[in-house]
Amino acid sequence: MSYDVIVLGGGPGGYIAAERAGHAGLKTVLIEKRALGGTCLNEGCIPSKVLLNSSKIYHYATPYGALYGVHAQAPSVDQPAVIARKRKVIHTLVSGVGAAMKANHVEVVNAEGTILGRSGTAIQVGAGGKTYEGTYLIIATGSKASVPPIPGVKEGLASGFVMTNLEALELEALPKRMVVIGGGVIGLELAAYYGVVGCAVEVVEMLPKIAGPIDGEISALLQKGYEKDGMKFHLNAKVVRVDADGVVYEKDGREEKIVCEKVLLAIGRRPVADTCGVEKLNIAVERGAICVDECCRTNAVNVFAVGDCNGKSMLAHSAYRMGEVAVNTILGRKDRMRYKAIPSVLYTNPEVACVGMTEEQAKEAGMDAVSVKLPMAYAGRYVAENENGVGIAKFVFDRKYRTLVGAHVMSNYSSEFIVACGIMIEQEMTIDAIREIVYPHPSVSEIIREAAFAVSL
Ligand code: FAD
Ligand code: NAI
Repeated sequence: MSYDVIVLGGGPGGYIAAERAGHAGLKTVLIEKRALGGTCLNEGCIPSKVLLNSSKIYHYATPYGALYGVHAQAPSVDQPAVIARKRKVIHTLVSGVGAAMKANHVEVVNAEGTILGRSGTAIQVGAGGKTYEGTYLIIATGSKASVPPIPGVKEGLASGFVMTNLEALELEALPKRMVVIGGGVIGLELAAYYGVVGCAVEVVEMLPKIAGPIDGEISALLQKGYEKDGMKFHLNAKVVRVDADGVVYEKDGREEKIVCEKVLLAIGRRPVADTCGVEKLNIAVERGAICVDECCRTNAVNVFAVGDCNGKSMLAHSAYRMGEVAVNTILGRKDRMRYKAIPSVLYTNPEVACVGMTEEQAKEAGMDAVSVKLPMAYAGRYVAENENGVGIAKFVFDRKYRTLVGAHVMSNYSSEFIVACGIMIEQEMTIDAIREIVYPHPSVSEIIREAAFAVSL
């Protein structure tokens, strides 16, 4: 069977590539071994946000509703109902991807695909006992949770005591005590759910701060908020062992043990690059990720790699864009990946949304950078909706070109307006142009306007 394009993997990178290729009239087959939607729809972005939405509703009911004059009688979380809703949402969205494939004439094969090699110029991929031949191949095999060689982790995973995101998003019974290994995005988002709905959560993080590369002040504020909700943090603490009943970490040269019912392992994800036969086409892989250029081309002729498998930016929206760049390149349209204005969001309560550089990063890059820090209370809607809110926003500007180069905001709804800052950065809008923008009032996005007039450039 011959195709213009074979797509391997049906997550955000793969399904968008297939959809765009099909839409452009290319004969396309998408090979997915599990479910359309990949990690994002089935065990990542979407399910975690379904859970987080339930914890936000619960949070408002208790203890915060009273701050707004609303009193709820003994609210409780029905964990099986939360998980059932999560499954319903996944079903809706996965069905939507299936419909999009159909609408764009993409053939979907539900089987594991393996690269077999080339026959002439055609690339051959085996799946479900059949051989598919394509002029182009787009690899979009995603990533999986890193499992460190820490004693006890493998045994814990086998017994179900240790969970990755997969199991943590499927728990039907709320554990009483949970240890989260890794205070990065997955650890914090899932801690924001479990720690609010009634589970005692302790986070063990080996770095001196949580939330990885985000602004240090925002990270500290976020941690304070979590602690107010009863969560505990052990920073500069490295997990050295997992026992059958708890986690042992080392801090300041001493070992401590936290006894718990469940452990969430969230120490990073690694690209899936070594299980689909890349060696058959001599595709270069470095530090576990498929090497690509700015058009997502690998070193092998007509072979692309998009999304998490190339390790460039392990986010669903980056995967979408990479899928589009790959297809545009196949179609001969000029396009390339640019990474300087890709937003990242922590969907905690409050959310943290960032795009571009922090002041330190801008200075390290040699810029004459200046930043403006404002309390979110400068935005009327924020005050109306956040009693005792401690949210802040930081905007980083380049003095030389009078442009915005970074925005870092801790406030709910920041995920919805950070893209505006991304556009300003990507389009290199000058401060004069930014000052002419009209924002809806009242909205938390007005903080951008406040910053634009607060900075002198
Ligand atoms: P994936 O979504 O991993 O899809 C790859 C697909 O390829 C899988 O379906 C897999 O079954 C299939 N596959 C692999 N090998 C083969 C093979 N040989 N044959 C056939 N099929 C194969 N990102 C965000 O931007 N926002 C978020 O809020 C967010 N939340 C997340 C929460 C969690 C808990 C996790 C784990 C991740 C989250 N992410 C989030 C990251 C996001 O899920 C990934 O960046 C995104 O899914 C990457 O898309 P992808 O298409 O590259 O890979
Ligand atoms: P991460 O890289 O964000 O965080 C892992 C954390 O674990 C780091 O802070 C690291 O210092 C710590 N760590 C590593 N080894 C440790 C040890 N032995 N003991 C204690 N701490 C240790 O990785 P995470 O949270 O697993 O997420 C993986 C990826 O998934 C993210 O990088 C992101 O690309 C994606 N993601 C995105 C989300 C979003 O956009 N909202 C949400 C969830 C995941």
